[in-house]
Amino acid sequence: KKKHKIAILSGDGIGPEIMQEAYKIIEILKKKFNLPIETSEYDVGGIAIDKHNNALPENTLNGCKNSDSILFGAVGGDKWNHMPIEKRPEIAGLLNLRKKFNLFANIRPCNLNKKLHYLSPLKSEISKKGFNLICIRELTGGIYFGKSKYDQKKKYAYDTEIYSEYEIQRIAKIAFQIAQKRTKKLVSIDKANVLKSSALWRSVVDKMSKDYSDIQLTHMYIDNATMELIKKPFTFDTVLCSNLFGDILSDECAALSGSIGMLPSASINEYNFGLYEPAGGSAPNITGKNIANPIAQILSLSMLVNYSMNLPNIASLIEESVSETLYNNNLTLDLVQKNKNYISTSEMGNKISEQLLKKV
Ligand code: IPM
Ligand code: MN
Repeated sequence: KKKHKIAILSGDGIGPEIMQEAYKIIEILKKKFNLPIETSEYDVGGIAIDKHNNALPENTLNGCKNSDSILFGAVGGDKWNHMPIEKRPEIAGLLNLRKKFNLFANIRPCNLNKKLHYLSPLKSEISKKGFNLICIRELTGGIYFGKSKYDQKKKYAYDTEIYSEYEIQRIAKIAFQIAQKRTKKLVSIDKANVLKSSALWRSVVDKMSKDYSDIQLTHMYIDNATMELIKKPFTFDTVLCSNLFGDILSDECAALSGSIGMLPSASINEYNFGLYEPAGGSAPNITGKNIANPIAQILSLSMLVNYSMNLPNIASLIEESVSETLYNNNLTLDLVQKNKNYISTSEMGNKISEQLLKKV
């Protein structure tokens, strides 16, 4: 069998701790499911700045190029916040990596199972209905990569939101295709009542919808979407957004499903090469305490197994193991009320591993 090489980039903060739990799952996939996985570790982010004076060293970049996929932890922390923005771990490490591999499509599935409705901060009449949505976020364009300036002397600064028709088409195509495999309901998010870039976004998506007559397309302004998501999350299915709007909406979705610590993501390019990472950050405040939730990291691995290794059935087994662990009331600190009966990062990894081992 051909080896699948995974570049492991744990990064900073809780990154290495939650990656440790993903490793437990990788070991089971290798030893019990006989998957030909090979892993190599590379430095990225703050740790790479400390060791090599560069958030994305040449060696890391080459390692990623020579791999079939990337499993990413998290980057950033106070220690590097004095640096100019473009040298910091988040930009020089993560954004650079997304851009270098042209990972324009960020996929963030987010759901709340009815059985776990109590994990959600929503009123129970709403959370009891559960929800199951997927954010498709444009990842290599928009205001994150537009012309920008911070003029300290003249005391002004700006960022520019810029999208070409082509950039909108390629991310919208992915959203239409994903919607086709789901409930065929697609909502495109914009601010077309104010922004020119949004007016283009809306018109491009509208034109494309003629080629997807099976899809029920609607448009929603970003401000309205943030409100509707809280009031009726169960009415959403596939959500298409620009880079910045998707960043904001995906954090909101994560909170609604219980915790940002459970939201995985896949960032892929046109060749299906992918970087898989938790949607949350490096969480410096809880680093080193063995209390972080490793679920987002483990589910990111399952997305890797699904999209990059093309093994959806095995990916489902990992997802089921996570759900079952939660049903059994094994919860990390972020998921419990008032510090009650929580389990550690490593215990959570062990519990999920136990469930997965039952499925071999
Ligand atoms: C995310 C993160 C990143 C982003 C940061 C760390 C640059 O918030 O993946 O959502 O804004 O894209
Ligand atoms: Mn974010």
